[in-house]
Formats: sequence, C-alpha cells, structure tokens
Amino acid sequence: MVTLAAVPSVERAPGLRPWPRTWLERQLLLERQHDRLEALLADLLSLHLAEAPAWRAVDALACDDACRRLLWDLRLHLRLEERWLQAEGCLCSGHRAAHAEAARAAFSAFVRSAGDRQARGVWLRNLSDWFTAHRAGPDATAYAAATAATAVSSATVSSATVSSATASSATAIPASQP
Ligand SMILES: [Fe+2]
Repeated sequence: MVTLAAVPSVERAPGLRPWPRTWLERQLLLERQHDRLEALLADLLSLHLAEAPAWRAVDALACDDACRRLLWDLRLHLRLEERWLQAEGCLCSGHRAAHAEAARAAFSAFVRSAGDRQARGVWLRNLSDWFTAHRAGPDATAYAAATAATAVSSATVSSATVSSATASSATAIPASQP
C-alpha cells in the first residue's frame, strides 16, 4: 500500500487563524508552502522511481489523486504569492508569466502522463526541478524586494511619527510659556 508522508496543506484551514496581514507574516506562510510542496514532490517522486515496489490498482489511484492534489495546491500557492507580491509592488510581469506558463505546462504534461507511471515520474522530476529553480530565482528576488520595501516603508512611518511628535512638542512649549 502506498503511503504519503508529506501531506500538503497549502490551503488555510477555515476558522483556525486569520490570513496574515503583513508581508513578513505572509512570507513565512509562503515559505512554509514552498517547503510542503517540495516535500510532497520528493515523496511522490520516490514512489515513481523505477526501483520502487510494484503498485496495486488502489496504489495507482492514490498516487494519481495525490498528483492531482499537488497540482491544485501548486496553483493556489502561485495565485496567493502573486496577490501578496503585487500588494507590495514586487510582482513583475515576467514573474507572473513564468507562473502562468509553468501551471499550463504542468497541467498539460499531467494529462499526457495519465496511467503511465514512468511518464508521471518524469513529470514530477520536471516539476520539482522547475519549482526548486523558481524558488531560488524569481521568488527569492521578489521576496527580498518585498522585504526591503517593507523596511523602507516602516522607516518612513517611524520618521514621520517622530517628526510629528517633535512638531507637536515644539508648538506646545511656547503655548505653555507664561
Ligand atoms: Fe513565484
């Protein structure tokens, strides 16, 4: 019987926690999703290796369902990442296009590899390679830009707060003079 150690949980369980509001909280969630998706990809890939034990029909169905779920979770992750990076002004058109192309290619190859364990293994390998490279490339760059933008924004707000407080004090002093 095939068992999957890594259970994807890209979706937020309803009623547990509110969605994160700051970029730093959002980044943490996105990185956790990255980790889970990578773990699931590795898990599924190990089941599709040529030397892995033979499958029963129920195992093939379980793996097919898990791959379908992986694809679904990946698309949700990409959409969430796009939304949150855009909110920080850090989603470029190339990044968005890379997501769209990857999702389209992954779905197409998923359909073509239906019922073929070896072809599905190649699909998983290609998807895993793309995901790892994308995380280290466009994602890392965009996340760093969003973090820097957040730091600049926070510094500007702090500076404005100090200036405002200083101005208030300056105007308050003469008013309290006899
Ligand atoms: Fe991305």
